[in-house]
Amino acid sequence: MWRHWGAPVDVTALAPLATTQPRATFSTDVPVPLALVPVAGAGWFGPAGLDCRRAGKPLVVRLSAQGVVCETDRLEAVLADEDNGLDVTVAVVAADDCMRFAVMVRNTGATALQIDRVASAVLPLSPSARTLISFSGRHNGELVEQRTAVPTHGWVREQRQGLTGHGGPPGLFVLGEGAGWHRGEVWALQLVWSGNHRILVEPDGAGGWTLLAEAVLASGEITLLPGESFAAPEAITCFSATGRNGVIAAFHRSIRSAITWPGGTMRARPVHFNTWEGVYFEHDDARLGALAEAAARLGAERFVVDDGWFVGRGNDRAGLGDWSADPVRYPRGLAPLAEKVLSLGMEFGLWIEPEMVNPDSQLYLDHPEWVLGSATGAPLPEARHQLVLDLTLPEVREHLFSTLCDLLRHLPVTYLKWDHNRALAPAVTAQGNCGSHAQVLGAWALWDRIRASFPDIEIEACAAGGGRIDAGFAARAHRFWASDNIDATSRTAIQRGFLQFMPPELMGAHVGASPAHATGRSQALDFRALVALPGHFGIELNPERMGQQEVERLTHWVALYKRVRDRLHHGTCWLGEGADGLVWQAHGAPGDFLLLVTRPRPTSLAREAPLCLPMLGDVPQVMVRLIESAIPHRLQAPALGAMRSSGLRFSGSWLAGNGLPLPHLGGEGAALFEVRAA
Ligand code: GLA
Repeated sequence: MWRHWGAPVDVTALAPLATTQPRATFSTDVPVPLALVPVAGAGWFGPAGLDCRRAGKPLVVRLSAQGVVCETDRLEAVLADEDNGLDVTVAVVAADDCMRFAVMVRNTGATALQIDRVASAVLPLSPSARTLISFSGRHNGELVEQRTAVPTHGWVREQRQGLTGHGGPPGLFVLGEGAGWHRGEVWALQLVWSGNHRILVEPDGAGGWTLLAEAVLASGEITLLPGESFAAPEAITCFSATGRNGVIAAFHRSIRSAITWPGGTMRARPVHFNTWEGVYFEHDDARLGALAEAAARLGAERFVVDDGWFVGRGNDRAGLGDWSADPVRYPRGLAPLAEKVLSLGMEFGLWIEPEMVNPDSQLYLDHPEWVLGSATGAPLPEARHQLVLDLTLPEVREHLFSTLCDLLRHLPVTYLKWDHNRALAPAVTAQGNCGSHAQVLGAWALWDRIRASFPDIEIEACAAGGGRIDAGFAARAHRFWASDNIDATSRTAIQRGFLQFMPPELMGAHVGASPAHATGRSQALDFRALVALPGHFGIELNPERMGQQEVERLTHWVALYKRVRDRLHHGTCWLGEGADGLVWQAHGAPGDFLLLVTRPRPTSLAREAPLCLPMLGDVPQVMVRLIESAIPHRLQAPALGAMRSSGLRFSGSWLAGNGLPLPHLGGEGAALFEVRAA
């Protein structure tokens, strides 16, 4: 059973709960506390961690501990219900300042066991919990932070689109009394899952709350034959006594340990040039060749040929499924373009959307029975004129694997941008079962097989921008496309949402055109570049439409990114807020970091307030240098000149307690500082 989830405590003199918990009226005579796997029917009235049926009849489960292995960093409990013929194994591993939960249910009975629910984690929240921070979103508007008081009745965040969704990873932050970015108690979790999910918080009747996170299973979706097991998605949980930044640091560590980089370690994140917003579907050999030359001149290191290269793909109505170069636009195939890209000193990357098919494609003509929902016989709702292939079918996975192998063997591709541009509806498999859960496992299996066969290739996870950002894909991918919205002001918020779960090196961040295609807003190039800089930087525009001065300035930003990327992409990432809507983030270590200060909207303040940097409290002296800025304002303080040249010395405690003097940042302004112990 649960006793405590929070600050480290000394448990050497801990009295048993049964002797300290007062009894409640209108309750069972023996109180039923929150168990590791709580079940209904014995007096637990909170959310259950396990619901299952045999021959359609609900089981009243009684779990008892069969074996508990408890090591310093690991707990494994096997809980069995012999009468009902099942056991549950719960493994909890402490690593990277997180606890990872893995729950597995096994059918030990002689008949089929239907699983309706297996929670990944059910956790107690302290009575000092006050605020839930969650994220919602849509295409072009990912990861919108939502703040709500802990609920009087119940709170739920549920996603049923069959994939992670544009609200970002299936996760939640719970803030304790007075908690903020830098201080206070924060409890948080994220599921290692890329499909339907539910996170709920309910009052526990004793002043606290119960937090539950799980994959959502449809009725009849999971049936275990005798001896079979079902593994719930893992949950990564974290408690921080140092505010939201404590959780962020732990989540980043945990995600970083799960990434598998080609060659074993991450190499400097290469500057991307992505063709999408530059040319959309207007592809041909000559045009893309010229674009590659322009990209190389800007300093790009990887040229990613986005949508529009394959058979019949002159628009988004046709072609998905037929993964060979369009013979009209690329009469000699993609090889000449790829070779040109390599000869320009860049890597060659390619966009694909393997899980999808357009009804207007050869693949669909050949195999209409391969799409999800076809077994229903009902009309299938198209989205972006496409349908979803049924990845639960081994022949579909086999076909996609061999198609991808062909591409990867015949072209010098070292990078795939793997897209997924619609939700699943209906998610019914060829056998007529609900297949949302199995579809995710099918996609993971395909990714795993590609990764195993082509270990040197990096893959970007994209789903109409940031529809598939989660720890499940973080273990398979090397980059997430955070949003199709590259408007720098929108991106400021989206990227701050992203960074609360994932480290910056995984965050695809591009300099787009002005006006921004997604919003129509215009922003200065310097602002667009500074906002993209901390992520995995790239360019997504048509250089032909830029003036010479802008091209030179963008070349400068590319060069600057190359100089600072190693400092941005290792170590700690802190997020914070200043006065009147100002936001900041810092990357590095307390005595050596880069600080990006951003003002996404104009301020009503006559001058910017000094910015407190709490991580400097214990650093005696630092030099602060202004490396770059996008600051339209002319009335700057004289000391800014010194900050720009040799730097300005401060005591760490002054910057932590009183704050760093900031320049006017205008309406859409930003500044990049270097802060180093001196
Ligand atoms: C999705 C992606 C974009 C682009 C297009 C191509 O919307 O998010 O970046 O690749 O598809 O169709």
